[in-house]
Amino acid sequence: MAETTATPTARRAHPAHSALVGLASLGVLLQGVWAGLFMGGSDDYGTWVEVHQHGAEATVALAALATIAALVWLRHRTAVVVGTALLFVLALAEMLLGMAIDDASWAVVVHVPLAMLLLALAVWLPTQARRG
Ligand code: HEM
Repeated sequence: MAETTATPTARRAHPAHSALVGLASLGVLLQGVWAGLFMGGSDDYGTWVEVHQHGAEATVALAALATIAALVWLRHRTAVVVGTALLFVLALAEMLLGMAIDDASWAVVVHVPLAMLLLALAVWLPTQARRG
């Protein structure tokens, strides 16, 4: 799928894709906040872990929708399509790693840096999409 010599209009970012990636990156950021709340020894440990769990589901769903938006409206933008699909796959891996932490504590060693990589990718994507 080569980057075609599309008109400037067609090469611009798409609002639905930008909004979904923006919400997914907000989701990743909030996951860090919820994690801070339950790692900080809050009395409501169980509540914040549950919020973190549902936050993960919402973030993965948003990344999936962003990938569909990229395929529908930005399919000629290879870097944006591949980057958005990578955001979805990494968010899914992050969720599965999180769910494994109870049984395999080593998973948290990958879980936290992967969250940072997710945030970096989510910030890079809209700038890449806007770049002509
Ligand atoms: C800097 C950000 C993050 C930190 C510090 C963090 C930390 C943690 C920790 C310490 C746990 C283990 C909780 C426990 O079982 O007692 C956990 C669980 C989990 N994390 Fe994260 N996490 C972060 C971001 C994310 C993101 C971005 C996702 C998904 C998109 C995610 C998904 C999950 C899930 C699904 C669990 C399992 C929750 C459960 O046991 O019900 N986390 N996380």
